[in-house]
Amino acid sequence: MKINLVNKNINKIKSDVEIILVNKLDDLDEKKLLEDLGFKAADEALVFLPESKKIYVGYEEETYDSLAIAIATAIKKFQSTKFKSAKVDLTSLDSSTLKSIVEGTLLGSYSFDKYKSTKEKKKKQELNILVLEDSPELDSIELEAILKDSTIISKAVNKARDMVNTAPADFYPEVMADLAKDLAKDAKIDCKIKGEKFLKKNKMNAMLNVGIASIHESKLIHLSYKAKEAKKKIVLVGKGLTYDSGGLSLKPADFMVTMKSDKSGGCAVLATIWAIAKLELPFEVHAVVGAVENMIGGDAYKPDDILTAKNGKTIEVRNTDAEGRLVLADCLCYAQDEIENIDYIFDYATLTGACVVGVGHYTTGVMGNNETLKRSAVSSAHDAGEYATTLDFNRYLKKSIKSEIADISNIANTRYGGAITAGMFLDNFVYEENKNKWIHFDIAGPAYVESAWGYNPFGASGAGVRMTIEFLKNLEK
Ligand code: BES
Ligand code: ZN
Ligand code: ZN
Repeated sequence: MKINLVNKNINKIKSDVEIILVNKLDDLDEKKLLEDLGFKAADEALVFLPESKKIYVGYEEETYDSLAIAIATAIKKFQSTKFKSAKVDLTSLDSSTLKSIVEGTLLGSYSFDKYKSTKEKKKKQELNILVLEDSPELDSIELEAILKDSTIISKAVNKARDMVNTAPADFYPEVMADLAKDLAKDAKIDCKIKGEKFLKKNKMNAMLNVGIASIHESKLIHLSYKAKEAKKKIVLVGKGLTYDSGGLSLKPADFMVTMKSDKSGGCAVLATIWAIAKLELPFEVHAVVGAVENMIGGDAYKPDDILTAKNGKTIEVRNTDAEGRLVLADCLCYAQDEIENIDYIFDYATLTGACVVGVGHYTTGVMGNNETLKRSAVSSAHDAGEYATTLDFNRYLKKSIKSEIADISNIANTRYGGAITAGMFLDNFVYEENKNKWIHFDIAGPAYVESAWGYNPFGASGAGVRMTIEFLKNLEK
């Protein structure tokens, strides 16, 4: 969908259809007709009047969420028609709402048809957004900048969605590494790929063992971007389980379906660093991804195995399905060993089903040791249109991951608080000097959408990308 900003009278813009965002019916001449048709000024409400070629969509509040959902609802209707162009008037709204309109349009019009034998022809449609009549020069420059940035951000989310949606037979660690190379080339940033020889040599036995039964070689992906005058050094670490069968602690059949999405954290950090480079944010950013497939076989790692991670800590494996934390343990160590003077280190993972049980399908669990940083992450997530909430560590749950035989166990001895105990497991691999610089994001809930919500169609949502970009922008302040 092509988006143009225009600043002349809406009636002068030539478009096939007009989208009208409705917060109050009272303001409209067509009030009676719309009411008779059962239309309400509520989120996701839509009426299309074919004769006047007007699409009315409701929104409840002038917030990112409400507006993005409204425009996405309208755009889906527009896409189902043969019309080429649509227009929408934003002049009565705050100019900051442009971001939600652009992102709602580009995220809401996403579709994934790689595996459909008959593909719908991609229609060349465009949306004309009326921003301001007679806008002063500065405003229009600012507005064009919002359009440009929001387009990059939406493209990044859609790149993450494409990767996550790809079937596991077509997307294994080597494929992920190749795509990372392509992204790096496109964004003109550095890319290092390491294989199992490197993992062995660098004593990354936790990560190595998770992928040992796979026919595909595990890959450690490290992209880096450095702005000319980098203000801060930020490391993003992602869980890239291209498939999680559970390993010998095999998942039940129903729980295995969707586990192609266990690479969502890794895909999110790859897409995010691509966007950060394109946006030329003033940082040095590293993206480290552990791309691994968790499978079964005669050589598989087993419950009862003791693995030594890169930092020398020994881990008792009590469940091979708690594999993400093993991969992240080594990736966190790798990042902290390789990259000096880190200002912030964030990890992203579809780490626990417990997080989904605890906070629902829409929300990311935010964990760590720094209250202020966690709060700022949650607020950035909300500003960016993502849902997030903090989950607090505590001394009692910490005891539940103790091991009788090794330094730590990879699962807790309690069924409860599983998202937090997983986060506290990771804390063991965050070095003392980085304790307050670290945040763990459990995106298990929002990463994959099994029943469409908001502007997220079925499949991958690209969770993590928008909130991280916003979070980084706020770190600057
Ligand atoms: N990848 C899963 C977590 C997950 C579950 C993500 C559902 C998305 C949706 C993870 O590797 C896993 O299997 N975790 C186990 C941990 C348990 C064995 C302690 C879980 O959540 O059941
Ligand atoms: Zn698992
Ligand atoms: Zn997993």
